[in-house]
Formats: sequence, structure tokens, C-alpha cells
Amino acid sequence: MENPGTKLPIGVFDSGIGGISVLAEIIKALPCEEFVYFADTLHSPYGTKPEDVVRSLSIKVAEFLALMGIKSLVIACNTATSVAISEIRRKYPFPVIGMEPALKPAVGLGLIGKILVMATPLTLKSKKFNVQVQYYKHRAEIVPLPCEGLVEIIEHDHSGGREIREYLAQVFSPANTRDISAIVLGCTHYVLIKKEIADIVGSKVVIVDGNCGTARHLRTMLQNERLLNTALAEKLHVPLKAQVRFYVSGIEGDVMITKCKQLLQNDGIVCA
Ligand code: DGL
Repeated sequence: MENPGTKLPIGVFDSGIGGISVLAEIIKALPCEEFVYFADTLHSPYGTKPEDVVRSLSIKVAEFLALMGIKSLVIACNTATSVAISEIRRKYPFPVIGMEPALKPAVGLGLIGKILVMATPLTLKSKKFNVQVQYYKHRAEIVPLPCEGLVEIIEHDHSGGREIREYLAQVFSPANTRDISAIVLGCTHYVLIKKEIADIVGSKVVIVDGNCGTARHLRTMLQNERLLNTALAEKLHVPLKAQVRFYVSGIEGDVMITKCKQLLQNDGIVCA
């Protein structure tokens, strides 16, 4: 008998538009699913706030989404995951998937040179990230690069404007980029400016993010839990038509929702 939970949507959240880069990959991997996306813009950015504040904000968002009736939750934010995933998992019966800087695939490339991890100050300070670094430090030199202020710039302009280019030019000084073989994008916002980062560091540096891995992991997990929605196969179109309900905590929610839809559209996904 079909699990009645298969028809429920998947909840996805971030502090803002960053999680849309993850949602796009999830929609491509799971085109028959429905989604509820929450952008906590009222409290953005998370990455420069104290750990306990981000933990309680993340738990509140999870509570909101759980009340909507979801079959699974994706924390499309490295910062929220690093400080809140254990508690959210303890609280809810549905599967919860998080994001962490993709060190495993970056180290797995086996390149010679340092691996730079761009992330928010809170992610890089977190116990979770430091345990990850301890695990991989014998296989590669891992250099954390806190990017305070970058999330705010991307929230206002994700299309490679002057402010982003100036910020990156400052961060990627010749001293910072010497002997770098790979860069891990440890914040989902940074994936939205991957091209601008590539332009500045050059084609020899491999840029890694965890978005596709997260989408694959979610699909496998839903399959194992018998929660995949297989009944909507007729929804498969080109361009992909996604069923997403958006919620925004801050002011100008409509502007934010338009931005989110535009970002998905840039990725070939139209919101029904
Ligand atoms: N997209 C979030 C992340 O992956 C950004 C955190 C923030 O709001 O500072 O960490």
C-alpha cells in the first residue's frame, strides 16, 4: 500500500535566497515533488550571529514548516545546519537533511595544493566543521576563509555587480590564492556567484559545492523511507514546472519571492 506521506511537500529553508541554489538541484533530481520554501530574511544573515541565536531561529523555522505538514526537511544553509541540525532531528519524526562544506569531494579530487573553504564565520567556528577538518587534515591542507558581509551583498545583488567583484578582489588577494587547488563553497549563497568567483581565481582552481550531493542524498533517503512521490510523472515538462510555495519572514516578501522565482527560472525551472 502507498505511504500516504508521499503526497506531502518537502520543506526547504535558508536565511534568504541562498537555499534557492539547493532547491534548483533538488527540483532537477525530484521533479515530481512539491515544495515549501522559507526564507528567513527578517533575521538574515545568520552567519555573523551567536550560535544560540541561530539555533533558536532555525528551530522556529523548522517548527513553522513542520506545522504546514511536510514529509522531509532540507536545511539549505550550512550555517543553520552546523548549529541546529541535531536538535531539529531530535524534535521531528520526518527525515532532516542538512548541508556542510563539501570537503569530502574536494579532498577526493586528490589535487596538489591547499583547499580553501569559503563560509560564514559561524560555520567555520562551529564544532561540526572543526571535526570535519580534523578528519581530513592528514589528506589535504584545509584553509578556512570566513567571508563576513558577502551574504548581505548577494542578497541585494546576485548578478555579479560591482560590489561583489570588489569584495572578491579583496578576498582573493595574491597571498590568499597562492598554492590553491580547490575552493569549497561552504555557504549556499556563494553558489549563486560561482561564475564571478571562477572569473577571479582562474580556471585552474576547481570550485566545489555540495548542492548536487544534497539533492542525490535526499532522493536516496526518500526512496529508502518509501516517501518518493511517483504519482505525478505527467508533471515532467521542459522547462521543468515546479510546485513551490514560498514564505518570507521579512518585509518586501513579494520582491523576495519574485527574486527566488527568477533565480529558478535562470536554471530552467518555472514555478507553476
Ligand atoms: N546560505 C547560508 C549558508 O549556507 C547563509 C548564512 C547566512 O545567512 O549568513 O550558510
